[in-house]
Amino acid sequence: MNLKSFASDNYSGIHPKILDAIVKANLAHASAYGADELTKTAITKFKEHFGSDREIFFVFNGTAANVLGLASVTESYHSIICADTSHLYVDECGAPEFFTGAKLTTIKTTDGKLTAALIKPHLIGFDNQHNSQPKVISIANSTELGTVYKPDEIKALADLAHEHAMLLHLDGARLSNVAASLGLSLKEISFDLGVDLLSFGGTKNGMLLGEAIIFKDASLAKGFKYRRKQGMQLASKMRFISAQFLELLSNNLYLENAKQANKMAKLLAEKIKNIPDLEIVSA
Ligand SMILES: Cc1ncc(COP(=O)(O)O)c(C=O)c1O
Repeated sequence: MNLKSFASDNYSGIHPKILDAIVKANLAHASAYGADELTKTAITKFKEHFGSDREIFFVFNGTAANVLGLASVTESYHSIICADTSHLYVDECGAPEFFTGAKLTTIKTTDGKLTAALIKPHLIGFDNQHNSQPKVISIANSTELGTVYKPDEIKALADLAHEHAMLLHLDGARLSNVAASLGLSLKEISFDLGVDLLSFGGTKNGMLLGEAIIFKDASLAKGFKYRRKQGMQLASKMRFISAQFLELLSNNLYLENAKQANKMAKLLAEKIKNIPDLEIVSA
């Protein structure tokens, strides 16, 4: 039986075009650890989508993108502010605390979305040696509850972070779905709004595996290549991650896949909404 499950978007397979790209990349030898032509071309493609100043690194999974990205911009005496429903807090087995040493300050929300009003009471203790120093606001778009931040909501959080010499991290495991839902480009819903570092998802949008960490600029990305290796996320055969990303970001495949996923989520909501005892909590 061809059993289908709605438990997670990871239950779905690999997009045939992505699989073909992996097969094509398999025809010849190439340099290891990202020094190959496919990786260079994929990075150029990322810059087309996210901006030419960006620094881009590939890793195997989303937890690593979040954790290593955050580890590279924090010290152990910092704190990272996030929703109490965030993947960071709930689903990463303490890896953020383990790898950064920083404290996670969690905030209760009604819909998975942080706001300036919710965050402000936690922006305390600056310059006080007894307190963790707030350094990063971390949000996910789309959120873990399936809700979507509008551009002005993200801009408000970036402005708040920057007013306090903090950074805004965006967990974009499903950023393509946001682009599809809002009809905006990937750059318009991230770096144009003041995001400083972004975890960009590939696995949930048709890839076999692979996520990217994108820094606003080279100064923020300083030392990251060493951290990625220490964090055991430097792929020796990186070209096979790069080939997938190159395919995903070419000819709008990322958008096509995300539109289809959004459409199916709506269809699911439509079909189950009349089932007694079932309540759709966010749509
Ligand atoms: C919001 C969010 N961020 C990150 C991830 C990445 O997780 P993984 O380490 O399983 O790739 C997920 C996966 O479910 C997620 O839902």
